[in-house]
Amino acid sequence: MTVFGVDAVPSAGAGELVVGAKDIVTPLARELARERGITIVVASAGPPSIPATANQSPPPAPAAVAPMFARPSSNGSHTAPPPLAPPAPALYRRGAPLHPAVAPAALHQPRIPRPELTSAAKSVGRVVVVGAGHVGMITAMKLAEANIIAEVVLVDIAEGLAAGIALDLTHSTALLGFDTTIRGVTSLAEAGPADYVVITAGRARQPGMSRTDLVEVNAGIVGALAREAAAISPQTVLLVVTNPLDEMTHHAWQASGLPAERVIGMAGVLDSSRFQALAGLATDSPASTVNALALGSHGDEMVIPLSQARVAGTAITQALPNAQVTALVDRARNSGAEIVGLLKSGSAFFAPGASAARMVLAMATDSDQILPATVRARGQYGITDGYVGLPARLGRNGLREIVEMPLTPDELTAVRTAATRISERVADLERVTAAS
Ligand code: 2OP
Repeated sequence: MTVFGVDAVPSAGAGELVVGAKDIVTPLARELARERGITIVVASAGPPSIPATANQSPPPAPAAVAPMFARPSSNGSHTAPPPLAPPAPALYRRGAPLHPAVAPAALHQPRIPRPELTSAAKSVGRVVVVGAGHVGMITAMKLAEANIIAEVVLVDIAEGLAAGIALDLTHSTALLGFDTTIRGVTSLAEAGPADYVVITAGRARQPGMSRTDLVEVNAGIVGALAREAAAISPQTVLLVVTNPLDEMTHHAWQASGLPAERVIGMAGVLDSSRFQALAGLATDSPASTVNALALGSHGDEMVIPLSQARVAGTAITQALPNAQVTALVDRARNSGAEIVGLLKSGSAFFAPGASAARMVLAMATDSDQILPATVRARGQYGITDGYVGLPARLGRNGLREIVEMPLTPDELTAVRTAATRISERVADLERVTAAS
């Protein structure tokens, strides 16, 4: 069996690329052949591994992708997801045009797709997760398990780390019943163009390091990654996970030059989930019956609008005494630090990784879901211009709309204050980076 990649197409003679029945022609090679009017001819009898002619229509799209987040209804069925966009015929189309410096390497990745696994069977071609620490690892795992992404690529500069995790995850595919391809590489260029890039890379605060030191170090890392990701994949959506989250999201937006709709920060999903868990424990209710959104910053200015919070349909302020509700909000706000204190070394990763994956999947399925996210407000909630955690309607191309929910005057003030504080810290960061 021979694998014909894009490099085989230009050398095809007389408008034909002749392949054997058992040979594989990569999706990119088929697309290039179609663009150049080259027919792929199967030399011997028997069914080819993948469609035989470049001009052949791609297989039909799956009728629907099972909703990942919808709850089963009482009769066990799920709410139908919104219709998916038609699948691209090649895995990497969305990243085109490619950055000239990386395109050749990206196109010549020695990747052997399984015949039955093409982008036509998945709603998204490739998601790149940068940083193979615990958060990156869990993010990649959850994305791969969702089984709607053709390829998940984990990137880490530590030689072998991402590759080892990718191989380990690949070993679980039969066990867990998914067929996402998982790759681990050491650079964004090797990863290739992506529909979504999740940035988890960065340093955690070390003993003796001030918050400003951390901001400066991580801004260097996140800025460089965001710039490179945008160059490789101009149409990508960046999801920032690196701390300090709100400032790093703003920084990634500026460094990347991407539209703000395509640079989003993950924290509200995590903070909401923490509050749901804590309120569920406090009320002896399943966390899934707690409705609450965490807005503001991923830190001291986190705002959980209690006027909107419900436990099994009852206002949380009625379900629990005020002092207890306030304590729950404080605990949710400090949950990251609480886990660091327990672990002694390292920070939380299960819920952060699951939250990042959840956001990517909400976008990848064009779900139109409203999730709390760090997004750039332009007048909503009276915030003229700045990144802050707000309810965001997410679609295939990132932020579709900032949703204005009714808040009490105090809640509104708290959200605006969060936006102001984040902007002040961003200004500090800009001063530091401009001076260095
Ligand atoms: C947390 O809150 C790591 O920011 C993350 O746990």
